Amino acid sequence: LRVLSVASECAPFVKTGGLADVAGALPAGLDGAGVEMRVLVPGYRALAQVSASGREVWSWPHLYGGPARLIAAEAAGIGLFVLDAPHLYDRPGTPYLDEAGGDHPDNPERFAALCRAGAEIGKATLDWRPDVVHGHDWQAGLMPYFLKKDGSQVPSVMTVHNIAFAGTIPTDRIEALGLDRADFHPEGFEFWGRASALKAGLVWADALTTVSPTYAQELTTADFGMGFEGLIARRRDDLTGILNGIDTEAWSPGGDAHAIRFTSWRGKAKATRALRDEMGLPPSEGPLAVVVSRLTGQKGLDLLLEAMPPFLARGGQIALLGSGERGLEDAWRAAAERHEGVAVRIGYDEALSHRMVAGGEAMLVPSRFEPCGLTQLYGLRYGAVPVVARTGGLADTVIDANDAALVAGAATGIVHDPGSVPALARALDRLVTLHATGDTWRRIVRRAMHHPVGWDRQAERYADLYRSLLPIQ
Ligand code: ADP
Ligand code: GLC
Repeated sequence: LRVLSVASECAPFVKTGGLADVAGALPAGLDGAGVEMRVLVPGYRALAQVSASGREVWSWPHLYGGPARLIAAEAAGIGLFVLDAPHLYDRPGTPYLDEAGGDHPDNPERFAALCRAGAEIGKATLDWRPDVVHGHDWQAGLMPYFLKKDGSQVPSVMTVHNIAFAGTIPTDRIEALGLDRADFHPEGFEFWGRASALKAGLVWADALTTVSPTYAQELTTADFGMGFEGLIARRRDDLTGILNGIDTEAWSPGGDAHAIRFTSWRGKAKATRALRDEMGLPPSEGPLAVVVSRLTGQKGLDLLLEAMPPFLARGGQIALLGSGERGLEDAWRAAAERHEGVAVRIGYDEALSHRMVAGGEAMLVPSRFEPCGLTQLYGLRYGAVPVVARTGGLADTVIDANDAALVAGAATGIVHDPGSVPALARALDRLVTLHATGDTWRRIVRRAMHHPVGWDRQAERYADLYRSLLPIQ
């Protein structure tokens, strides 16, 4: 079974968040389930070397304002198609933002081009013919639309990693993008008066998935659906929640390439001491809690700023690695100046993120909403006990250390109500108390480290979904 995956980012080549991890890990995960997956990505500068190592398999004289080539290549064990289109992708900034931090003004064209290329492969244009095409988030949303409009029969899957990004298209660019204005209505790609690439995917894809069962449920509600809840509720039978996994080789406490490796309590304590040293935190009896995160409203780290003083007063410490909104970056820098027990690194640092997880005794994820979340999974695997808000994938992956779960030996972390400073403060208070227990704490850590977080079972679920879409003969 062959599947084309279409994604705007893919680890280890280009990453701004968890989507890249998932796009990069799925092919290897699916390999064991009998699925050959190739990934189509835009030819950003970070992909230049990969492109140069591949061969051209298709070309367009004009693709949204310039010539483009499709390159087949293999890198980091992943079969790739790179869309080489310098007028769209060869520029500084991130995949979505320019150097000044604003959206690239031609983002609709940049990702429509990706979808055109995906549709071309989907229509069995190349020797390599996919049985199913699978797009991720709004950047791939127009692909199912283009395929259906071209009369292709290939089934398509659309995965929602984060409904907060609608992929808005100014209505005066509908024709220029190759969309049919006749489809600009509420049952089509119209979204509250504007056009939305995500909406096109949600309407025209044959099957929808999202990255946790709880988020699948939440998406049908006004609190989380961000205006798409009606459509998603209507397509409820076509929507499956499949939890993300993590790469358990890259994230392995006994074999980490960037952090002190540990298999014993003593080793874990050493990693914690090393992290305190690296971050300039003094020794403390209280727990060392870590955060590795984009700094945006979604992640609830403004709530943590408010909730943390009593935790710090009881000897707790917080080390944060993150980047994002300027206001949050400044507020965290200021907190580190004010509190001895807070250390902050603003920036993106893959190696340090491993040392944070290895050394952390707790992993804080106080998100307001969280489709899946990966850092709590890293925390589980490394015995950095997750303290998480009860939402989305966080609710599906962490078992709260309440009395019943403790008696049953099932607890793997601490779960609190989302969006509430008092609830978060109580969770942090429980963290200090549990951490001081010795035996109970060690039982939670052990249980957390045994929680399955790999891809095997989840990949099987994707494979089952793909197979369910195939024609009977
Ligand atoms: P999201 O995709 O919403 O950002 P996830 O938890 O799914 O949230 O994935 C975030 C990914 O990005 C994780 O792999 C995390 O380790 C990584 N990450 C986030 N911020 C940083 C940072 N400042 N430095 C290194 N890695 C980071
Ligand atoms: C999104 C979500 C995050 C999820 C990731 C990968 O960025 O915010 O919760 O883990 O996608 O699916």
